[in-house]
Amino acid sequence: ALAEQAKRVAAEFEFGPEAVNKAVKEFIREMHEGLQKYGTELSQIPTYVTAVPNGTEKGLYMAVDLGGTNFRVCSIQLHGNTTFSLTQSKVKIPNELMVAKTAKELFAFLAKQIENFLKTHHGEHYGATLKRRQTGGNIKEDEIFNLGFTFSFPVQQIGINKGLLMRWTKGFDIADAVGKDVCALLQAEIDALHLPVRVAALVNDTVGTLMARSYTSPGKTGTLLGAIFGTGTNGAYVEKLDKVKKLLQNQDAGEYDKSTGDMIVNTEWGSFDNSLRTLPNTPYDIELDAKSVNPGIQMFEKRVSGMFLGELLRLALVGLLKDPSFPLFRDENSAQNDVHSTTQIYESSPIWEQWGIDTSFLSICAGDNSPGHRMLRQTLDKDYGISAVSAEDAEAVREIAGAIGRRAARLSAVPIAAIVLETDRLKGPTGTATTEKKEGIEPARGSADLAEEDIIDIGVDGSLVEFYPNFEDHIRQALREIEGIGEEGERKIRIGIAKDGSGVGAALIALVAGRVVASTE
Ligand code: BG6
Ligand code: GLC
Repeated sequence: ALAEQAKRVAAEFEFGPEAVNKAVKEFIREMHEGLQKYGTELSQIPTYVTAVPNGTEKGLYMAVDLGGTNFRVCSIQLHGNTTFSLTQSKVKIPNELMVAKTAKELFAFLAKQIENFLKTHHGEHYGATLKRRQTGGNIKEDEIFNLGFTFSFPVQQIGINKGLLMRWTKGFDIADAVGKDVCALLQAEIDALHLPVRVAALVNDTVGTLMARSYTSPGKTGTLLGAIFGTGTNGAYVEKLDKVKKLLQNQDAGEYDKSTGDMIVNTEWGSFDNSLRTLPNTPYDIELDAKSVNPGIQMFEKRVSGMFLGELLRLALVGLLKDPSFPLFRDENSAQNDVHSTTQIYESSPIWEQWGIDTSFLSICAGDNSPGHRMLRQTLDKDYGISAVSAEDAEAVREIAGAIGRRAARLSAVPIAAIVLETDRLKGPTGTATTEKKEGIEPARGSADLAEEDIIDIGVDGSLVEFYPNFEDHIRQALREIEGIGEEGERKIRIGIAKDGSGVGAALIALVAGRVVASTE
């Protein structure tokens, strides 16, 4: 009976071919809408980045990265031959700073990390200019580090290093920062510490990922899309400038280079279909949203990304544990073998608390094919304090967790397909396999025989796509079911990890931006 009931719950998370296709159509509709006007569900933010790199870029840059699992500070030496070296330090943002009273508290902390990094890794440079800086002396242009600020939240960009925070996502909530220019906030704290650093570019992590992927694997047609499937989910893609109507018509828009005819657009697809026209909506989705800090928004993200999948599983399991007819985690040896005793035995388990289950547990479930699912049971025991787990229990948990992960991956195929279709990339030349193979670039699955110009390159990053077993396979399965993509289209799509790419990407944008800022100052 347990197995059957687990199947019933798992089935609630089904997102079949018809639903996928409906969502793709809605995504394309929202893409168009977001290019016409401001304030739409899909924000479609023009990033002021108008070209992707080609691998020849050179120089030493800094980058900081806020919005993923860790806050990172790095310096990046671009060697100009598609390679780079990276020095980095990372810290977890203290929880209290995520919901600080003032933006200053958070940004002062970030500046302090930059200072520590400079002292540790560029001590000589830091020391040499310190005295002059403190006494208000001049710092020469070539002593200043241009810094790319990867800030992975929705920002209304008004220039390459200027952008107003639209809203927080992923559990951050500092009301005081909303509407402010986050570059200015960071620069003020950097200046307070007299650091030789200029915030030269504001970059979303998806844009950084897109840049990094283009730098390291410049294909014939460049990378189309940079996507994050991590704590949050989002994507940025290369759009034709003349389609970005709202920017072209905006009198207040800042300067940007029009010569390439392209504009990188940050979709902010975490908020795709907030009005739930096509997204699945189980009782667990409803409860998760209602108890979140931002009910009604980031509805796509809440069904897809790492911050939320653990919580969906928790809500599903708690629902079952409270159901007297569901014999999950019952201790056979307990005298009072009923719901009451189950909830009591595990009273101190984090399973009863919001966010109590980490998404990494879903990866463990999906990856544990051992007989009796030993790993899964050990984790439940060690991390969640649940010890009486039978093989049937483990199978039930695995079934439900697997359904949640699979739904997330199938949902992830929706924006990928929509962007490939909307940009008309499948209509490219259908060449034969004449192109030389590039070293270090993995061929698209099943596409080793395709010519490089036929391949649609997509760069991805984030803990979910990196660690969740077979995430890409589930995406691909859904892609094949999508009208206009099908098996042939799916084969042309190459998905490659751009690990920690956004730092390199931010450096690349700072490089271009640094030139612009320096020459206009
Ligand atoms: C990191 C990038 O590798 O991945 C960040 O440097 C990005 O910019 C992050 O936000 C996303 O993954 P996660 O899992 O840390 O949210
Ligand atoms: C959230 C943010 C978005 C970011 C994504 C991935 O959706 O709003 O800006 O790109 O998370 O980190």
